[in-house]
Amino acid sequence: MAGDKSISHRALMLAAAAAGRSVISAPNRGEDVLATRDAIVALGAQVDDRGAEIVVTGGALHDPQTTIDARNSGTTTRLLMGLCAGRGLVARFDGDASLRRRPMERVARPLRALGADVRTHAGRLPATVHGIPDPAGGDFALEIPSAQIKSAILFANLDARQLVRVTGDRASRDHTERLLRRYGREIRFDGRRIELEPGRLVACDVHVPADLSGAAFFLAGAALTPGSDLVLRDVGVNRTRTGVIDALRAMGADIALENERELDGEPIADLHVRASELRATTLDGELVVRAIDEITILAVVAAHAAGVTHIRDAGDLRGKESDRLTTIAETLRACGVDVRELPDGLDITGGAARPPERTLRTHEDHRIAMAIATLAAPSGPHAVDDAGCIAVSFPEFVPLWQKAQANFR
Ligand code: S3P
Repeated sequence: MAGDKSISHRALMLAAAAAGRSVISAPNRGEDVLATRDAIVALGAQVDDRGAEIVVTGGALHDPQTTIDARNSGTTTRLLMGLCAGRGLVARFDGDASLRRRPMERVARPLRALGADVRTHAGRLPATVHGIPDPAGGDFALEIPSAQIKSAILFANLDARQLVRVTGDRASRDHTERLLRRYGREIRFDGRRIELEPGRLVACDVHVPADLSGAAFFLAGAALTPGSDLVLRDVGVNRTRTGVIDALRAMGADIALENERELDGEPIADLHVRASELRATTLDGELVVRAIDEITILAVVAAHAAGVTHIRDAGDLRGKESDRLTTIAETLRACGVDVRELPDGLDITGGAARPPERTLRTHEDHRIAMAIATLAAPSGPHAVDDAGCIAVSFPEFVPLWQKAQANFR
C-alpha cells in the first residue's frame, strides 16, 4: 500500500524547515510527493532520496531560483506558499493545467492578513509570494474547514513571535498538528481550534503509515464484490480521515480494525474487510470533511447499494483535481446509474450499475481513475482513456489491484 500522501508532504516540508537531519521512512512515492521533494530542494534543503526513505537536512532555506512547479499537487502549492510567506522568502508557484484551474485565493487571503504580499492570477496559479520574516502570530479564522488552508497558516507562523490561534475547523485532517508536536513544538488542538506556542522545530525521524485514501479503493472493492475477504496492513486510521470507514459501515460493510496501535504520533491498524449486502445512506456535514477524498469511492459504492444515497455539503469537491461531483456523476451515468447532481452533492440510485458501452474518461484525476477500477470490481474491467494519472498518488496501484482481485471473488 502507498504511504500516506498528506503525511509525506508535511513530514518533508517540516524536515526542510527544521535545522538538522530528519529521515522520512516509507513515504508516498507518487508524483505529488515527488513535487514536494523537488520543491524543498529548490528552497535550499539537502535531500538524499533512497526510495524507501528520504533523508532531509534542513533549516537554511532560501529563495528558489526558478518557479516552483507543483505539477498536479494542491498540497505542495498551498502549504509551501504558507512556509515561504512566514520565512521572508520570495517564490513563484505554478502547476499543470488541472492545478491552474484550482482556487488559490482561499490561501492567499490569510497569508496577506499575516503581512505577506501574495499575488494570484485572477485567483489562480501562477502565484507569487513575497514573505515576511518573524510574523507576529495572533488569531486566524478558517473560511472553510480545509486542512490545506489551516496548514498553510500554521506553516506561515512557524517563526511567529506570539501564540497562533486558528479557529473555525470542523475535524479536517490534523496531520500537521500531530507532526508539529513530533518536530518538538508545543501545540493544542481539538478538531475545532488550534493553539501553537512560539518555538523552534527540532529535526526528527518519521515513519509514514499506509494511506487510508489509497486503501479505500480496496475496502470498497472488497465490500461490494460478493465472496471477498481482504486484509490491508498498517493503514493510518486517524479519526480525521476515517469518514470513509464510518460511511461504509453505515452502508452495511463488514470492516474490522485489528491490531490497533500508534506509529510516530499517528494511529494505525490492519483493516479486515469482507463482502456484505450494501444499502444506501446519507453523507453530509463533518462526515464529508472526514472523507473529503473518498466521496467519489463512496459514490461508486452507492451505485451498487440498495436505495438512494444522498451526498450533501460536498461543494468543495468541485475545486479538486477535477470537478469531482460532475466527473463521478458522468462516470456513473455511463454505467446506467441514475444520478441527480446538485450544487453541493449528488443523489445516487443504486442497484442498476452495468458495464459501460464506451471508454470512460478519467479527466486526468487519479481518484476518478481508481474509482472506476472499484466500479468495475464486481463485473470485470472497464476501459479508461488514461490511467497514467494514477501515479499522482499511487504508482503501485495496478499490480496491487490485480493481486487483490484474487480475493475479490
Ligand atoms: C489535503 C487536504 C484536502 C484533500 C487533499 C489533501 C491535505 O484538501 O482534499 O487531497 O493534504 O491537506 P482540503 O484541505 O482543501 O479540503
